[in-house]
Amino acid sequence: MKKLISLLLVLALCLSVVSCFAEGAAKKVGIAMPTKSLERWNRDGAYLQEQFEAAGYVVELRYSDNDIEQQNNDIQGLIADDVDLLIITAIDSDSLSVTLEDAKAKGIMVIAYDRLINNTDALSYYVSFDNYTVGVLQGAFVKDTLDLDNAEGPFNIEFTAGDPADTNAGYFFNGAFDTLKPYIDAGKLVIVSGKTTFAQVATPAWSTDTALTNMQNTLASYYSDGTILDVALCSNDSTALGVAQAITSDYAGGNAPIVTGQDGDIANLRNIVDGIQTMTVYKNVAEEAAVTLEVAMAILAGQTPDAGLLESLSAEAAFDTETYDNGVFVVPSYLLVPYVITADNLQKLVDIGLYQWDAEQKYLEAK
Ligand code: GAL
Repeated sequence: MKKLISLLLVLALCLSVVSCFAEGAAKKVGIAMPTKSLERWNRDGAYLQEQFEAAGYVVELRYSDNDIEQQNNDIQGLIADDVDLLIITAIDSDSLSVTLEDAKAKGIMVIAYDRLINNTDALSYYVSFDNYTVGVLQGAFVKDTLDLDNAEGPFNIEFTAGDPADTNAGYFFNGAFDTLKPYIDAGKLVIVSGKTTFAQVATPAWSTDTALTNMQNTLASYYSDGTILDVALCSNDSTALGVAQAITSDYAGGNAPIVTGQDGDIANLRNIVDGIQTMTVYKNVAEEAAVTLEVAMAILAGQTPDAGLLESLSAEAAFDTETYDNGVFVVPSYLLVPYVITADNLQKLVDIGLYQWDAEQKYLEAK
């Protein structure tokens, strides 16, 4: 029996490699990442290239410095290179419609990676994490840590959201705000600055410096009289880094506010060890790359994957055909599962094989 299984596995591997060489030449995949200035995209690009090349594809990887015009030019270059598939993380979710018309005209399929791409029917699939759940996890962490169902309160909270050009940012903010809204409405959670909308707390380009300046302004305007800040709810780690810096330099309340984040960036994992940040929502981008490969292999083999693909995926995911309406159609989506990391379960990141402890066994380093 064991021999039969190993024979079938070898056969499956050969078939998968052969599928990359249909019509002779190896199929070519173009990967467009937004920037190297945000840590996670360096990992995403590396994992995607590594895994697609290991599967026999030729890979062209581009980074566009968070410059919208450059990203359109980079993608046009990949189209001109006759790639068979595009994997794109949009800098601006609304800025690629015209370029993707050119991809569609050449029959090039497109997977939106991590961030949705709006106003186009040129997309085949969206692979990401459940973005609303990322926010829910942040809101629930605050609810549980403050025991909002039982504590007297009131507690003071400020929100820092992400880039308004990134559709994910709205889902993150809404997930957190919706989770905490009952307590805000009941007066148990108070947004002292009065900044209650996404637009008021958004951070263009997810910029650490902008998040720092915004939080310094909020602290100067509303917390310089000794008012206590209990929570700084930040949608991701790059903004949490700036907010934590502002709290360290400009907050005189004497307590350590709860600071949330997302991505597990190395500097933020250090801050979690040092008690400057309280949690991050972790997304295993090596698995996100693996699922993207599995979806890509299916569509390049002429299939139309659906929920049936879930059972063979290398990571836990949901198949969603209702949530991600991009303005033209609801994009079929494979959504991986995010989870909370705190100082108490950092070992989990070592166990998944992507991080290691430093020599003093105190901080985590990327592997
Ligand atoms: C989002 C992504 C988050 C965060 C942010 C900053 O689109 O889903 O994980 O990294 O970009 O790059």
